[in-house]
Amino acid sequence: MVNFNNDFLVKEIKRRLSIINLIEGYTSIKKTGKGYVGLCPFHDDHNPSMYVDEEKGLFHCFSCGAGGDMLGFYMRYNGLTFPEAVSDLAKRANITIEKSSTPVKGHSRINNLFKLNAAVSRFYHRALLESPNGGPAREYLEKRKIPPGVIEEFKLGYAPDGWDALVKFLKKNNIPASLAENLGLIVKKQSGDGYYDRFRNRIVFPICSVEGKVIGFGGRRIKESDEPKYINSPESEIYHKRKNFYGLDSSKDHIRKNKRAIIVEGYTDFLALFSAGVKNAVATLGTSLTRDHVVTLRRYTDRIVVVFDGDESGVKAAVRSLDIFLEEGLLPGVVILPEGNDPDSFLAERGAEAFYKLIDEAPTLLDFYIDNTVNEYRNGAVTLNSGVKEIADVLVKVNEPVLRSSYIKKTAEKLGLGENEVMSLVRLGKGHGKMGGVKTVKSHSNHEKLMLNILLTYPDLSGVVAAEDWEECVSNRDVKSILEEIIVKGVHDMSSLLLSFQGSGAQGLISEALMSSPGIPDRDTAGKMIMSCMKKLKQAKLDERLKSLRLGISDAVKNKDAELEKRLLTEYTDLRKQK
Ligand code: CTP
Ligand code: MN
Repeated sequence: MVNFNNDFLVKEIKRRLSIINLIEGYTSIKKTGKGYVGLCPFHDDHNPSMYVDEEKGLFHCFSCGAGGDMLGFYMRYNGLTFPEAVSDLAKRANITIEKSSTPVKGHSRINNLFKLNAAVSRFYHRALLESPNGGPAREYLEKRKIPPGVIEEFKLGYAPDGWDALVKFLKKNNIPASLAENLGLIVKKQSGDGYYDRFRNRIVFPICSVEGKVIGFGGRRIKESDEPKYINSPESEIYHKRKNFYGLDSSKDHIRKNKRAIIVEGYTDFLALFSAGVKNAVATLGTSLTRDHVVTLRRYTDRIVVVFDGDESGVKAAVRSLDIFLEEGLLPGVVILPEGNDPDSFLAERGAEAFYKLIDEAPTLLDFYIDNTVNEYRNGAVTLNSGVKEIADVLVKVNEPVLRSSYIKKTAEKLGLGENEVMSLVRLGKGHGKMGGVKTVKSHSNHEKLMLNILLTYPDLSGVVAAEDWEECVSNRDVKSILEEIIVKGVHDMSSLLLSFQGSGAQGLISEALMSSPGIPDRDTAGKMIMSCMKKLKQAKLDERLKSLRLGISDAVKNKDAELEKRLLTEYTDLRKQK
């Protein structure tokens, strides 16, 4: 979405609107010596900790780390996507967005794909409501207790039986078959000419983007003997199942209002919840949860509860999703439903109140994970050694030190170990670098931040850093990706740089660096400072590795693992020499 036009538009918006006026509309801010300060709307703030700098066009909360430019504020506060925010603010700034006379390449094609999906969605929806052969489909939805209002709101449909209902519809409306084939709506016949419908005799669930455009379809069988149970649109230029949720376009406002999102696994689960008045949910699209999903959802809230079916695969899915959340710096709650239930059947049996109770009392995913592993150890599925190592590997990724040590304590208690034993395993994992979870703002190394700060102020110094192997030494992923934009891609203009990180936590790092007065007197000093930063970072990296090697060696000695001991020792002496 970020292209030259956006860049231009964003600059124009910033030129015309004041960040002070904009933010004043949402939280009261007061003038202080250098800038403005007020209560941060992005966390439960009691002492004003959000600063706004009119000249730089930035805001930053020095307590929770939220920060960025006016678009970032507006997106985050209102839970909007970048194009939505640009369009709103452009209106507010009285900028009329002219339709460019030479359309951006590919743009009209994408539009046609959306138009096609919209038409097909209407076709299926009408077939459900009106088609003489749609009786069984209508009865099916009635049996599943999906009320007419919900059928209407989510434009549920019916893909007629037979092989060419949609093919005929497309022909009648002069829609090129190749376009529909691209979206996987129809499939080329293996022998002979022509196409046949992908979705046949199925209930159709149109899947929408957050903006409410139809991007794909899910189709459930009506006859239990048809296989498979669900057929979904294949990935296409506009449909990405790893990034999108079912229902988010309708539930985003409820999620924001509720300050909580519930993730379920199925279309019907989502609809059952919605019908029962639980409207702050989303469903994944026949895939397990990905990082992209989490990034999408956290635009609306960082309080998330994941709900899994009460079977073995539900537990496995819960465990797998833990890493993804931790890497995004989130710790969700988890509900594993009673055996044999999914949200749909649970609601039918026990009602919405009982469901809310589960949600409210949901343990964190980490507590769940630890208990689950401890149970595996207790019933002999894993050894103590591998159980505690597994947990330690996960705890490494918890970057909030207080939280981490409380979980270390819990783990030690549950396994009957000393806190130090668990702690040393966690430390060992940390030194290996490969576990680099996202760190919270507080735990960034000061030198990484200082380096960022200097380069943001003097981007032309990036050549100095480029010559060093800086990537090795910077461990914070966000800092690294910002530095990459500046050093590798050569983005030296702050507005463009912020644009590259719209909607991401990295914006907060940029605003923080630019707003905490760095005290760099001049370019020469900046150059010297940056070299000394690099040196410190390299040193720190080396020290960290040495420390973890020492721990590893003493562990190896304890476990009488001579081979490991020898290997670690060799690495240790080599590194010592280097130092
Ligand atoms: N799914 C899929 N393909 C399948 C089976 C499942 O894409 N062959 C996806 C669908 O998105 C489905 C979700 O996985 O909604 C959960 O599957 P499942 O629990 O089997 O189905 P339910 O959602 O419970 O559907 P129903 O209640 O209609 O049986
Ligand atoms: Mn179900």
